[in-house]
Amino acid sequence: MKINLIYGTETGFTKSIGEDILRLWEVAGHETRLIKVDEAATEDWRADLLIMGAPTWCEPRLDTFGEYSDDWNETDLSKIDFKDQTVALFGLGDQVGYGNNFVDALGMMSEPVLKGGGKLIGKVPTKLYNYELSQGEDGEGNFWGLPIDEDNEPTMSPQRIMDWVEQLKKELNVE
Ligand SMILES: Cc1cc2nc3c(=O)[nH]c(=O)nc-3n(C[C@H](O)[C@H](O)[C@H](O)COP(=O)(O)O)c2cc1C
Repeated sequence: MKINLIYGTETGFTKSIGEDILRLWEVAGHETRLIKVDEAATEDWRADLLIMGAPTWCEPRLDTFGEYSDDWNETDLSKIDFKDQTVALFGLGDQVGYGNNFVDALGMMSEPVLKGGGKLIGKVPTKLYNYELSQGEDGEGNFWGLPIDEDNEPTMSPQRIMDWVEQLKKELNVE
C-alpha cells in the first residue's frame, strides 16, 4: 500500500509521532511518505491510506475552542478533494493543561474530510483518556482518530501507536 502522512506542528512532537507511525508501516513492507502540510501538493492528498496529524493549540485565556498549528491554518481543507479517500487522523494534545480543549483538532480535521466524501477509519474510544471536554469526539464514545499526549503520558505513546496501526490494518484488511 502507498501511505502518505501529512502533518503540521509547532514544536515538533507531531512530526516525531508521525515518523513513529510510518516506521511501523515500513517494517510491514508498505511504501510511506512524510509530508509537511504547508508543503503538500495536490497529489499528496491521494494515497491508498492518507494519515493526517495535527496538534491542538489554543489561546489559554479564552479557553473556548482549540486551534490548529499555524501550518494547518495556512491550508484550506475545504478545497482538498477527499472524495472516496480513506483517511486516518491522529492528534497531539494535553489532557491536563488543556483538558477543556483536548485534541480539538481531531474534530476540526474530521469535518472537511467527511463533508468532502472521505472515509474515516481508526477511531479510538474516549474512555482510554482523562479529560473534561473535546471537540474531537464523534458523539458515539470515540475520538475521530488517535489522541497522543506527549506532555503527560509519553510512555504510553509507543503502545498506543502500535495498537492503532494494528487496528488500521484490520480495518483495511492488510498485513
Ligand atoms: C500555548 C499552548 C496551547 C495549547 N493548547 C492546547 C489545546 O487547546 N488542546 C490540547 O489538547 N493541547 C493543547 N496544547 C498542548 C499541545 O498540543 C501539545 O504540547 C502538543 O504535543 C504540541 O505538538 P507540536 O509539538 O506538534 O506542536 C497547548 C500547548 C500550549 C503550549
